[in-house]
Amino acid sequence: MKLNDNFQKLAKNYLFSEVAARIARFKEGNPGVDVIRMDIGDVTRPLPKAVISAMHEAADEMASSATFRGYGPEQGYQFLREAIAANTLDTDGNPVYDPDDIFISDGAKSDVGNLVDLFGSDARVALMDPGYPVYYDSNVMAGREVEWMECRPENGFRPSLPQERPDVVYLCFPNNPTGVALTRDELQRWVDYANEVQAVIIFDSAYNAYVRSADVPRSVYEVPGAERCAIEVCSFSKSAGFTGMRLGYTVVPKTLAGFFSDGAPASLHDMWRRRQCTKFNGASYVVQRAAMGLFTPEGRAEAEASVRLYLENAGKLRDCFAAMGWQVTGGVDSPYVWALDPRGRDSWDIFQRVLEDCHVSVTPGSGFGDRGRGCIRLTGFNTAANTELAIDRFRKNFK
Ligand code: MLT
Repeated sequence: MKLNDNFQKLAKNYLFSEVAARIARFKEGNPGVDVIRMDIGDVTRPLPKAVISAMHEAADEMASSATFRGYGPEQGYQFLREAIAANTLDTDGNPVYDPDDIFISDGAKSDVGNLVDLFGSDARVALMDPGYPVYYDSNVMAGREVEWMECRPENGFRPSLPQERPDVVYLCFPNNPTGVALTRDELQRWVDYANEVQAVIIFDSAYNAYVRSADVPRSVYEVPGAERCAIEVCSFSKSAGFTGMRLGYTVVPKTLAGFFSDGAPASLHDMWRRRQCTKFNGASYVVQRAAMGLFTPEGRAEAEASVRLYLENAGKLRDCFAAMGWQVTGGVDSPYVWALDPRGRDSWDIFQRVLEDCHVSVTPGSGFGDRGRGCIRLTGFNTAANTELAIDRFRKNFK
């Protein structure tokens, strides 16, 4: 039996499984205590009514032989790809995607994990530290070493350029976990760098719905040159409450070219299509139809109201921790607040203290990488009432 030894290099548990297990242990020992969840970025508001109606209609279609659907197109239904493209516009009102470049999937997390299939096992990968653990874990499973792009408090948790020329650079903005967003000029520098060194940027755009600042782009393709170097991964989870529905998409432009090791030219779009057709049978028809409810005026308004609420919550958390003397980022163009403890305690110790003293769960910063040590991440994805309650407990316990 020859197993993948790379699994031995991973932490025993995935970050959010470990957090959930510790919360479960605490609850077992403290029955009746209500823990306010501010750890994993899971939404709490119900789906927009227009989404529910579209989903009901699609479920009814499945009940009649005239309208029943079996396997769908691996790349996703044309109706959804066209709706996404027609509704994703730059600041001048021009579409940023070609519908043919969009691949619908069961979520951004799966796509981020699966994109490792496109690159050679010896590809050099540059990752932000701290960063979303799926980037590291999936590359380690594929047998790759990674180079860390450190994000330090001194540089506002912005990544430094890699020391060595990478083949693949993972960027996530607005960032998970730090909540930092890049301006157009900052993103342009990364795109220019990637084109210069012929690297691919995997741009995780899962939190683009939270962008409010005028100089922060929502899509990497708002920046000239990105169509030649970037793959963009998007999600309906945080923008529309689809965490339990599972729906996302990845954009691989046909203009994104590379070379195989024998020098033969390669289209990453064709490679991704080939990969998806082999290993994926498409997202469910009912869920893709449900998403169409988001492109109605009512659906759009309801989804936007939830995003606004989460942003307001994050802003309050940011203010609370800043007032207590923690160094804080995020909470402006992001649902996440990232806070560095002025007392320099270990992240897991803070996690435990917050859980036991405040009955609030947060995510320990060190779970996102070494540069996250001494930090915690909080989310605005709760109700306004629970956010206020948590803030009240933080103020009392962290005087
Ligand atoms: C997070 O909390 O970092 C995210 O919700 C995890 C995810 O989207 O998979």
